[in-house]
Amino acid sequence: MKPPQGITYWLFLVRVSMVISTVLLVSRSPHLPHLTANKSITQNTNNVDISSASASVSTMPLPYVDPCADRYIYVYDDLPEKFNEDILQDCRSLSLWTNMCPSLTNSGLGPELNGADGDGVLQDTGWYLTNQWALDIIFHKRMKQYDCLTKDYSLATAVFVPFYPGLDVTRFLWEPEIARRDKLGLELIEWLKQRHEWAARGGRDHFLVSGRSTWNLQRGLDESYAWGSKFLVIPEVQNITVLTVERRPIGKNEFAIPYPTNFHPSGMSQVTEWQEKVRSSKRPWLFSFAGGRRPDQPERVRNYLIDQCAESSRCKMHECEIGGVECNSPSNLMKLFMHSNFCLQPPGDTRARRSIFDSMLAGCVPVFFHNESAHIQYKWHFPSNLESFSVYIWEDEVIEGRVRPEEVLLRYSEKEIREMREEVIRMIPTLVYTDPRYSSADFRDAFDVTVDRVVGRMREISLTDS
Ligand SMILES: *[C@@H]1O[C@H](CO)[C@@H](O)[C@H](O)[C@H]1NC(C)=O
Ligand SMILES: *[C@@H]1O[C@H](CO)[C@@H](O)[C@H](O)[C@H]1NC(C)=O
Ligand SMILES: *[C@@H]1O[C@H](CO)[C@@H](O)[C@H](O)[C@H]1NC(C)=O
Repeated sequence: MKPPQGITYWLFLVRVSMVISTVLLVSRSPHLPHLTANKSITQNTNNVDISSASASVSTMPLPYVDPCADRYIYVYDDLPEKFNEDILQDCRSLSLWTNMCPSLTNSGLGPELNGADGDGVLQDTGWYLTNQWALDIIFHKRMKQYDCLTKDYSLATAVFVPFYPGLDVTRFLWEPEIARRDKLGLELIEWLKQRHEWAARGGRDHFLVSGRSTWNLQRGLDESYAWGSKFLVIPEVQNITVLTVERRPIGKNEFAIPYPTNFHPSGMSQVTEWQEKVRSSKRPWLFSFAGGRRPDQPERVRNYLIDQCAESSRCKMHECEIGGVECNSPSNLMKLFMHSNFCLQPPGDTRARRSIFDSMLAGCVPVFFHNESAHIQYKWHFPSNLESFSVYIWEDEVIEGRVRPEEVLLRYSEKEIREMREEVIRMIPTLVYTDPRYSSADFRDAFDVTVDRVVGRMREISLTDS
């Protein structure tokens, strides 16, 4: 289209920019349900129909604007079900202690709480009994709602592999026969290597999600006492971007994304209502802790924290055992965290914990004791200035008796605490995963933030490669 001259040229620019902003508005605005509700406008096609959006603005021929340009994702929808669905069918084997089958329902969100769980603590909708390791499923289902999917690989910036490595390995973690833990991962790579989508870039544009920390996927020794599978050690996997709830410091291709919490809002109004609730919550406790002792490992910082909490009138504690009802009850946890200013988040079996996200959801300022709990995790979701919303106390200082966390926390003024809490509350929308059964909600959640960063990373990789 040839732009006209002079004053009409300016008019032309104004019109074009109006059209463009209308298109952008249409793709994000919650107030246009007749357009946003129908995802087929942009889904699975590069032929975006913008005529209905622009009709009222201009009748001039339009420049072609593709809101999905550079962010199309290709998904292996034909991946055999043994790599995902069949693992869910095998749910009885997913945990030695509890029946995980109910946790896998509702697209991985688990049973709906429907306000039944609490005494008015949680909202009536949007709350589920979500298992902390269900992200393999939740992310996959959420991906189905992504508004820039394509079936044409040549258009794609990134390729999603809907394999469930976290759930897969969970079935065999306590099995002495290590070959079973590795089998499916190796088969996945064989399957991928047959594909032209893999061959094109050696898998460098591929990504997948593990809902269990990568510590479970990095076995070095082929001995039955060694933990986990060796999925991350497979040479081809080095080319894949692995998203996980907790990464290792050495994992260059690993990126940590938030653990799923129990809150899966379907719209921003639900989030705003919750933010208001936690903002106005009275916080009688200076600090609190929810978790269990590690009696067999006396030198763990959490044991010291539990003792100090028990001695302090400013600390409230939920001591948990595996499968303990107290700690698995979302309303009990939320009540504890909503009534505390600071929430202690020492390492557990691994350096980070889902509780970090549960407590932040309640507007509680997290206190970290290890620099692998937050400093190297969640870089896409946390502000780089960690002091703006959290406290860091090196665990050795506590273990060796040089620092008492209570004294550190008492030094923060009310104003400082309020500012940190505001920062935590501001982050809530980007830390939760919206309900994947509905088309994308009217706000950017943890999934949206993740996908933006993945796509950005793939563009960079593609520049370096070429
Ligand atoms: C979305 O658009 C498609 C194609 O125009 C149409 O077949 C379908 O009924 C629409 N769905 C809704 C929910 O409006
Ligand atoms: C990783 O990707 C590079 C670049 O495409 C490729 O040359 C290499 O063979 C791939 N590595 C493996 C183990 O497939
Ligand atoms: C974590 O802290 C320890 C002790 O201060 C330090 O030696 C180590 O390099 C730090 N690691 C990271 C990833 O910052």
